[in-house]
Amino acid sequence: NKVVLAYSGGLDTSAIIPWLKENYDCDVIAFAADVGQGEEELEGLHDKAIRSGASACHIVDLKDAFVEEYIYPTIKTGAVYEGQYLLGTSMARPIIAKAQVEVARKVGADALCHGCTGKGNDQVRFEGAFAALAPDLTVIAPWREWSMVSREDLLSYLAERDIPTTASATKIYSRDANAWHISHEGGELEDPWCEPTEAVWTMTVSPEQAPDKPEYVTLSFQAGELKQVNNESLSPYQALVTLNTVAAKHGVGRIDIVENRLVGMKSRGCYETPGGTVIMSAYKALESLILDKASLKHREQLGLEFSHVMYDGRWFTPLAQSLLAGAEVFAKQVTGDIVVKLYKGQATVTQRRSPNSLYSEDFATFGADDVYDQRHAEGFIRLYSLSSRIAAMQKGDKA
Ligand code: ARG
Ligand code: SIN
Repeated sequence: NKVVLAYSGGLDTSAIIPWLKENYDCDVIAFAADVGQGEEELEGLHDKAIRSGASACHIVDLKDAFVEEYIYPTIKTGAVYEGQYLLGTSMARPIIAKAQVEVARKVGADALCHGCTGKGNDQVRFEGAFAALAPDLTVIAPWREWSMVSREDLLSYLAERDIPTTASATKIYSRDANAWHISHEGGELEDPWCEPTEAVWTMTVSPEQAPDKPEYVTLSFQAGELKQVNNESLSPYQALVTLNTVAAKHGVGRIDIVENRLVGMKSRGCYETPGGTVIMSAYKALESLILDKASLKHREQLGLEFSHVMYDGRWFTPLAQSLLAGAEVFAKQVTGDIVVKLYKGQATVTQRRSPNSLYSEDFATFGADDVYDQRHAEGFIRLYSLSSRIAAMQKGDKA
């Protein structure tokens, strides 16, 4: 028996390795995805997995694929969950699950395992992907089976088996990091009346600590893809890394929200998405130059729909594919440059231009123009409001 475990090197998945061997009499193959979470988490991961009892550890570099195949398509839909959350964890789950299935196929495994709790969204996202890609494989979710409940329980479980760990009994927050964001939940954040302290935030400086001088960045898009930052051509992943660094320095991209989980409960989370916040504002500013009113309205509806599809773990569905295809039609037009001013936690668009712009100073001006005949508006408004006029006349009001 072989089980492929989505392994992070944290306390939970470290305890899962011996637990699987004891309860399922199997070899455990650890699998970790590099989605840009950083060296700290990945360093020494292989040896750590082996020391915990895994028979092998596969680390797969998904950084470019994550940005190109998951983040960019999602940006093009404009998806933002419940008006604020930029979906960092939600976007990473399907690509991690897919790569995990690929490892399972390669090693001939019969089961897949993850360390998500039975109370969250992530279990649904992983298992939604497993169902679509590997319906024949068994899924094991230890948190829904074992009776351990605390970090102390996990630590003594490992100690009893002489498995070394550097984890401590007090790790306050549950965090999830990748190239797009880091999330923070748990600890005192569980009280929504409690303001997060600086100990929560790890990626950005506080707006109070940010430089007193603003910094400007120029983002250049071609057919919906970010191609250059400050006129330098970068890969999608490198562009994101670059923007993370500059935006984080200015305290951009922090949010503190209460959200609806798919399983029904509300949860409080703090998120840092510095580069992503800049890219999303720039992208939307460019769309505002290019898309006509009806198209933009449809793109907004599509983004709302897609935010739920993504949050709810439905990436591998025809619905997701159809929304992505629709967004791509609009994205093809999204070419141009945007300048964003970064200052004390704010990312403000200050300049925009596009070869596909529908904006015309000749038409929009408050000054004199010779392209727009204001008298035409009268007939337009009479017909546009005709049904209101008829209704009022029927009621006997004086029209
Ligand atoms: N609430 C966010 C989401 O559902 C973040 C989840 C973080 N996951 C984690 N395993 N720490 O997308
Ligand atoms: C978890 O419960 O494993 C993390 C939080 C979530 O999935 O929503």
